[in-house]
Amino acid sequence: MANVAVIGAQWGDEGKGKVVDWLASRADIVVRFQGGHNAGHTLVVGDTTYKLSLLPSGVVRGKLGIIGNGVVLDPDALFSEIEKVRAQGLDVGPHNLRIAENTPLILPLHPALDRAREAARGEDKIGTTGRGIGPAYEDKVGRRSIRVCDLAEPETLSAKLDELLLHHNSLLRGLGSPEFEKQPLLDKLLALAPRLLPYAEAVWETLDAARVAGKRVLFEGAQAVMLDVDHGTYPYVTSSNTVAGNAAAGAGVGPGAIGTVLGIAKAYATRVGSGPFPSELFDDVGRMLGEKGREFGTVTGRPRRCGWFDAAMVRQAVKIGGVNGLVLTKLDVLDGLKELKICVGYKVGGVETRRLPAGMRAQAAAEPIFEVMQGWSGSTFGARSYAELPAEAVKYVRRIEELVEAPVMMLSTSPDRDDTIALRDPFAG
Ligand code: GDP
Ligand code: IMO
Ligand code: MG
Repeated sequence: MANVAVIGAQWGDEGKGKVVDWLASRADIVVRFQGGHNAGHTLVVGDTTYKLSLLPSGVVRGKLGIIGNGVVLDPDALFSEIEKVRAQGLDVGPHNLRIAENTPLILPLHPALDRAREAARGEDKIGTTGRGIGPAYEDKVGRRSIRVCDLAEPETLSAKLDELLLHHNSLLRGLGSPEFEKQPLLDKLLALAPRLLPYAEAVWETLDAARVAGKRVLFEGAQAVMLDVDHGTYPYVTSSNTVAGNAAAGAGVGPGAIGTVLGIAKAYATRVGSGPFPSELFDDVGRMLGEKGREFGTVTGRPRRCGWFDAAMVRQAVKIGGVNGLVLTKLDVLDGLKELKICVGYKVGGVETRRLPAGMRAQAAAEPIFEVMQGWSGSTFGARSYAELPAEAVKYVRRIEELVEAPVMMLSTSPDRDDTIALRDPFAG
């Protein structure tokens, strides 16, 4: 099966939405396998901009969208997003959106706990999106989750709510936050059942049938390797595995079904939220990248921190994420800079290393080692072929390939879906 998985190779917001949209035209099915509505994927089609959080980006191309069991699903967020894209003219309903019946739900008590915890952390806050992602994954692993399939069993819902409230109200009480009552939550879930259940199915079977029929499946990652709960800059991470390997468990397919793994990386680096960022810039160049790149969180609206491309970190993401090829986005934002820097490693306690250390203190202390490259005076904005790129831009791309030890398979030169340079067809394997 010629499938493709798309994952972020930095700290999120690399342009996965645009790339998934572009690839979706060549796919039959687009599957989300982790994360939730903490993701914000922007797709620009002519004059219309779609901002998707939960819906697989393939819906814009009229493809079958699947929300896999690895996602944590906030039903209110789902239905308001469906309304929003319907108002933009898209057709979304149970005929083209399927949700794994074993997907855990985000309930109102999850964002409440997320926010209360962040407030209690004060200066040490993670900078979460406040959408209840972490607490919802905790409940899944703690075997307390209410899942989509539970909506068909009112007695199960009632018993599970008792257990859930015992746990959550104890925590909320400890944090000095208001507690939740059972009945309004039960009423909400019972009212939700007829709306959500038509979307629910055993998506592993749908995906198995797609495999047998030779259909092309695109796995759409959210967040990025450096936000992975195991491999990222822990604890400043999200609460799921963002690496492509999780596409198998998070959708219900075998590891062989994942196919080619594309790692998406900006031609520089950004991060929303707290945590280490060795190549971060605090000067005019950083401000320029933020303004020109319109670096504001799609979900939170917070300004993104900006810095130079960190090749050591992306190399790490390539190895851990099993990335076969890179998609380099936002090359156009670097247009006009006289000089570019690439982080090629770190100095930690006076010792040089190519690997970001795992410890919190060591990560915070990592000083970047930069290599300087010449910028270009021409424009890459909107380029659709390699031949249109200035020679120095090509050199920059080639140097990145060497440093991260992966080929660049695609380049993106504007927010528009068609301003893309494809060097290889990822579905060709
Ligand atoms: P995602 O979370 O990885 O899907 O990325 P986001 O959509 O949150 O953020 C990426 C932003 O960059 C969006 O505003 C995109 O429209 C924009 N974008 C994507 N590719 C390019 C590009 O090549 N050039 C420019 N200038 N903007 C881009
Ligand atoms: P996409 O898919 C960028 C960050 C938050 C915070 C940390 C934990 O658009 O790339 P969470 O709410 O997940 O518990 O927050 O992760 N974060 C993202 N940063 N892009 C995202 O998604 C993100 N999703 C979560 O800012 O630092
Ligand atoms: Mg985003």
